[in-house]
Amino acid sequence: MRKLSNWVIVCWGTVAMLAFSGASFAEESAVSANVTNGKNIYENGKPDAGVPACATCHGDKAMGMDAMGTPRLANIGYVYIVKQLTNFAEDKRKDLTMDQMNGIAKGLTVQDRRDLAAYENSFPRDSELSDLNALKADGTVVGEAYKGQILVKYGREGKAGACQSCHGSNGRGADPVYPKIGQQKYVYLVNQLTHWRDGSRANDPMGQMQAIARTLSDDDIHNAAAYLSQAPARTEGDTYEIDNKTVLKNVTIVK
Ligand code: HEC
Ligand code: HEC
Repeated sequence: MRKLSNWVIVCWGTVAMLAFSGASFAEESAVSANVTNGKNIYENGKPDAGVPACATCHGDKAMGMDAMGTPRLANIGYVYIVKQLTNFAEDKRKDLTMDQMNGIAKGLTVQDRRDLAAYENSFPRDSELSDLNALKADGTVVGEAYKGQILVKYGREGKAGACQSCHGSNGRGADPVYPKIGQQKYVYLVNQLTHWRDGSRANDPMGQMQAIARTLSDDDIHNAAAYLSQAPARTEGDTYEIDNKTVLKNVTIVK
């Protein structure tokens, strides 16, 4: 028993170390995030630093756009957003869709990244789901949601772990390490899974996502994305929702 719990602690220590090394992503010491500054940059950009308004590409409500291949940012996780902006700024992750995010993130200060992440986590829990029929009509390959659901819930024996074992039920997110992937945009999901699989996105702690993606076929990727893009925010009989405030306990929100 003692051995097992030590192992668990060591594992978590490693995850935390790898995920958060280099910056205080865990926000252990008290920091503050200014939602008003976040909203201002989100809507107007920072013209003197060459940063365009985030809303142009991610949408007014930060729901992402399939037509541009941009992700939803609303409520996907404060710590996760700060990490991605830092990874883009340090070129540890490349924007492989529009080649814009690396330059944009470099124009943001460390404080701006926190302010933007706090703003993006302040949205009401709305959803604006991908229109899979419209995508199909435009020639995009769309998978079968019922097959994707099996992968998300149960994984594949001896191969991929169930997506929800890390990302939470229906991919609703498990702060601070695992982003919300349920209700994420379809095109973006397919792109990221493909990039994890070929190693062109490699900013995941301990290569967790790359290892899983390498076990997925093209059909698996399309199926998982079809299910996740339409996933309900909660399941019947399980009303628990990740409370973003859990990771914000050391962050003072200034309005
Ligand atoms: C010109 C279009 C454009 C603008 C403007 C833009 N983004 Fe992005 N953003 C993208 C694209 C495209 C991606 C997906 C990159 C990829 O597929 O590799 C992305 C990805 C991201 C991600 C990664 C999200 C995730 O789920 O991993 C974050 C965070 C982000 N953007 C934040 C911002 C913020 C904050 C701003 C404003 C300061 C902004 N973006 C402005 C196009 C844009
Ligand atoms: C062992 C834990 C684990 C499992 C199981 C797992 N993931 Fe992940 N996933 C992660 C981590 C950690 C990240 C965040 C990587 C980072 O920090 O950039 C992630 C990120 C992602 C992203 C990128 C989200 C974004 O906004 O850019 C997608 C998409 C994704 N996972 C899909 C899946 C799917 C689909 C499955 C099941 C087939 C799955 N994951 C199973 C750990 C896991």
